[in-house]
Amino acid sequence: MTDAPNKPRKGIILAGGTGSRLWPITLGVSKQLLPLYDKPMVYYPLSVLMLAGIREIAIITTPEDQAQFQRLIGDGAQWGLRLTYIAQPSPDGLAQAYLLAEDFLDGAPSAMVLGDNIFFGHGLPEMMASADSQPAGGTVFGYRVADPERYGVVAFDADGAVQAIIEKPAKPPSNYAVTGLYFLDGTAPARARTLTPSARGELEITSLLETYLADGTLRVETMGRGYAWLDTGTHESLLDAGNFVRTLQARQGLQVGCPEEISFTKGWISRAELDAQIARLGKSSYGKYLAAQFG
Ligand code: G1P
Repeated sequence: MTDAPNKPRKGIILAGGTGSRLWPITLGVSKQLLPLYDKPMVYYPLSVLMLAGIREIAIITTPEDQAQFQRLIGDGAQWGLRLTYIAQPSPDGLAQAYLLAEDFLDGAPSAMVLGDNIFFGHGLPEMMASADSQPAGGTVFGYRVADPERYGVVAFDADGAVQAIIEKPAKPPSNYAVTGLYFLDGTAPARARTLTPSARGELEITSLLETYLADGTLRVETMGRGYAWLDTGTHESLLDAGNFVRTLQARQGLQVGCPEEISFTKGWISRAELDAQIARLGKSSYGKYLAAQFG
């Protein structure tokens, strides 16, 4: 399989699924559009891709939810981004995203983030810059959790090298879950085409990662205890994640997951474009923050 190391990395946000574990609140609205304290959930993973310097991004949603995402985010020009919308007719697994996004990626390497994953931590941009700089292969991030059986889990050998990644193991080989942020090279779609559905009927991301592992080209970076990787999969954890953001923002007076701020700081939008956003958002505390921060 050939790679195209010279193409800039593109982003994918996977925001499909039925959100059934959050019913009834997700019966009428996409999970990734729910409020995570003061902004829609998808702002947080989108901000992560922006912090990785990625401006060309595909948002994968159910066909029904696509119009609502477009209403919220549009074509991304307000944040200096180029957004493409792709429909996922049925949620057949995370690795399916690479098949759906194959034309969009056009051979480029990618960073995929799950639309319900919340990351926070000092050094995150640098960690992603290191992953981005890899000419080939893949980088994923391991994070210690108390309940690894709910995730893809890393098995290490005696020397600490990665032996396997196992999806939702009944007996987890470690406490290190693989987070929903995947930096893969341009071969990911071709690899995804070789996969067959798992027992739960999905093209598993762990199966895709196993192909890189077999080639010796998968790096697993550990996000240390100074990071927060938060779950939004249950009513309790959704509220906890919102409270985490509220606590940090109130204490520091700084926003978490604010696309306008990232974009302006990176020089992707002009002062006039930022002012237009501030004017539009003005009455909310979010808009007032932007006005105060850049006033
Ligand atoms: C998915 C992946 C799993 C990963 C998790 C991160 O799980 O299959 O490997 O650890 O996302 O959020 P799912 O959300 O499909 O249960």
